[in-house]
Amino acid sequence: MSSHIELEPKILYFGTPVVLVCTENSDGSFNLAPISSAWALGRTIVLGLGEDGHTISNLRSRPELTLNYPEPHLWPAVERLASLTGANPVPPTKPARTTFEANKFAAARLSSQGSVGVRPPRVEECGIQLEARATSISASGAGEFAVVECQVEKIHVHESLVLPNTQHIDPAQWEPLIYNFRHYFGLGPEQGFSYRSETPAGTPGTPTKQQLTP
Ligand SMILES: Cc1cc2nc3c(=O)[nH]c(=O)nc-3n(C[C@H](O)[C@H](O)[C@H](O)COP(=O)(O)O)c2cc1C
Repeated sequence: MSSHIELEPKILYFGTPVVLVCTENSDGSFNLAPISSAWALGRTIVLGLGEDGHTISNLRSRPELTLNYPEPHLWPAVERLASLTGANPVPPTKPARTTFEANKFAAARLSSQGSVGVRPPRVEECGIQLEARATSISASGAGEFAVVECQVEKIHVHESLVLPNTQHIDPAQWEPLIYNFRHYFGLGPEQGFSYRSETPAGTPGTPTKQQLTP
């Protein structure tokens, strides 16, 4: 007999990395917003953005952006941004406690770091920072949100996260901040690795993990 029950949860946030999206406002200042609806394939990153957010209206006019990946200890900074919007006046569809904030970097207590090829800055505290451009925006979810395709143009990685003398991010060093049913988590210990991993042994000195035996 199955022990599963039918459920109607309000959200389906199974646990995805948090990304801080920086875009340019119409006056040349910058907006910063946390999202967790983002996935990557090749050099394309696809975002799900609420239509009432300031980020999507910025991207419709100015497609450059940076995608900044915080590590778990930065969750309080992410949460400081959670109830803020760069939209003024605050759209009535936003959650009740939402307020307008012109300087999200200061409000989050994060530092901006100039980008190389795009106008929006990066978030200095984030170990992985991508410079990107929105190339396609389509409406979805009965017009409630937009699906945004972004092409990554430049990738910045903190040197402590790079396997020395390689082009690989060390999965034993990098730890994303995971948004799991509206709670923040890091990663647990490694369980195994894909047959396509090019870094199966991890960092020299760390225990070698086992690949799944078929
Ligand atoms: C951890 C976290 C994840 C979020 N994920 C998303 C998301 O994937 N898409 C989205 O549109 N909003 C998401 N939000 C909500 C936005 O951050 C929020 O609506 C914010 O006001 C957007 O700012 P903006 O209006 O200046 O763009 C998330 C918020 C938090 C704290």
